Amino acid sequence: MNQDAPREEWASRSGFLLAAVGSAVGLGNMWRFSYLTAENGGAAFLVLYLGITLLVGLPVLLAEFVLGRGARRGPIGALAHYGGRGWASLGWLFVGTGFLILSYYSVISGWTLRYALTALVRGFPADAGAFFESVATGPASIAWHVGFMAISIAIVRGGVKRGIERTALVLMPLLFVLVVGLALYATTLDGARAGYRFYLEADLGALTDPKVLQAAAGQAFFSLSLGMGAMMTYASYLGQNEHLPNESLVVAIADFGVAFVAGLAVFPLIFALGLQADVGESTVGALFITLPKTFASMGGAGRLVGTLFFVALVVGALTSAISLLEVVVAAAVSGLGWSRHRAATLLGAVIAVLGIPSALSLDTLGFLDQLAGNVFLVFGGLMLALFVGWAMRDPMAEVRPGAEGVAWFGLWRWLLRIPVPIVLAVVLVQSLRALFE
Ligand code: PFF
Repeated sequence: MNQDAPREEWASRSGFLLAAVGSAVGLGNMWRFSYLTAENGGAAFLVLYLGITLLVGLPVLLAEFVLGRGARRGPIGALAHYGGRGWASLGWLFVGTGFLILSYYSVISGWTLRYALTALVRGFPADAGAFFESVATGPASIAWHVGFMAISIAIVRGGVKRGIERTALVLMPLLFVLVVGLALYATTLDGARAGYRFYLEADLGALTDPKVLQAAAGQAFFSLSLGMGAMMTYASYLGQNEHLPNESLVVAIADFGVAFVAGLAVFPLIFALGLQADVGESTVGALFITLPKTFASMGGAGRLVGTLFFVALVVGALTSAISLLEVVVAAAVSGLGWSRHRAATLLGAVIAVLGIPSALSLDTLGFLDQLAGNVFLVFGGLMLALFVGWAMRDPMAEVRPGAEGVAWFGLWRWLLRIPVPIVLAVVLVQSLRALFE
């Protein structure tokens, strides 16, 4: 056991914040967000998604921060610390979810790496559909996935300060600049108006559709990295004086903001060539087929913009992947007494192998994404809300240090007790139904 070794800490508050925002902002904000928005009625989805982020996601995010900081351990240790052995098993589920999500997340990340290099080196071919097929499955897909895992492993091996924090400090500002720049560029496109209209005009009928609620909730959890202890693990490297309510608010707003601004780039690009009909075809269509088609038709500008777009995706994917890997690594370091080096290398290799089925079949990948995002994360969030809302002895005493003046902790706890579990239970039942339909 490594219990006695002093726990690593973030070097600075901004390092922690950027790392947490880095975990949240990723493929979810661009790939998942854009196809779900397209599929679920544009602005109606957006409104619901924002509402769920603030009323359901934010309270759970704060709960994860509180548990991690207070226990100074990863999810298994933190839940054992506050709830005993029974609750620790929820921590095991979290670690398992980390394995599962990273296994396919890294496959998609491998595609983005390849897309970025293709855009840079020779531009996208006109037949974007055939190009996607050649990239998405088969030995090439496995190779890029393994390459991406190797980069993630190298960063996590570097440790909290020198690996994760330093990466976030360099890459996250770059990502913000890229996404804002792309959105500004998109204002100059012919299709911009039609794109904005689709994105921002609400079809209010969709608000009452239970399918849209389910998609919005699953997306909020996936995008905020909630329900599997990633935020808990990052918070476990904090000192005791952080203002956790502020930190959670910053993370939630930054995460929504990047998704929103990315949409301001994606939808005009899709509508620039009138390609919107393609989008609904598959979950990967919008980003990996329609956009490259647009870039291919734009000549030199397309190469530059395409490169920047996919570089932004790679950056987002990487800062999220390392948080997924960190959950698993932290569990092995404190639970099994492994060195960080060994845990990152061995467990990263296991995840690389687990990802192979997703690199061979889009159906497998899609199924795992539904299972993890809409079922495991939502279930994890539900259990966390019940734990902090009802079972934990005095969460108010744990959240207060560093945030003494805050008046709404009662509201926070009430949200975790009643509304959050109700919403998540409804969503969970629906997700399970949809999965086995
Ligand atoms: N939040 C990441 C994204 O939006 O791409 C994905 C993710 C990272 C989910 C870490 C869960 C997690 F623990």
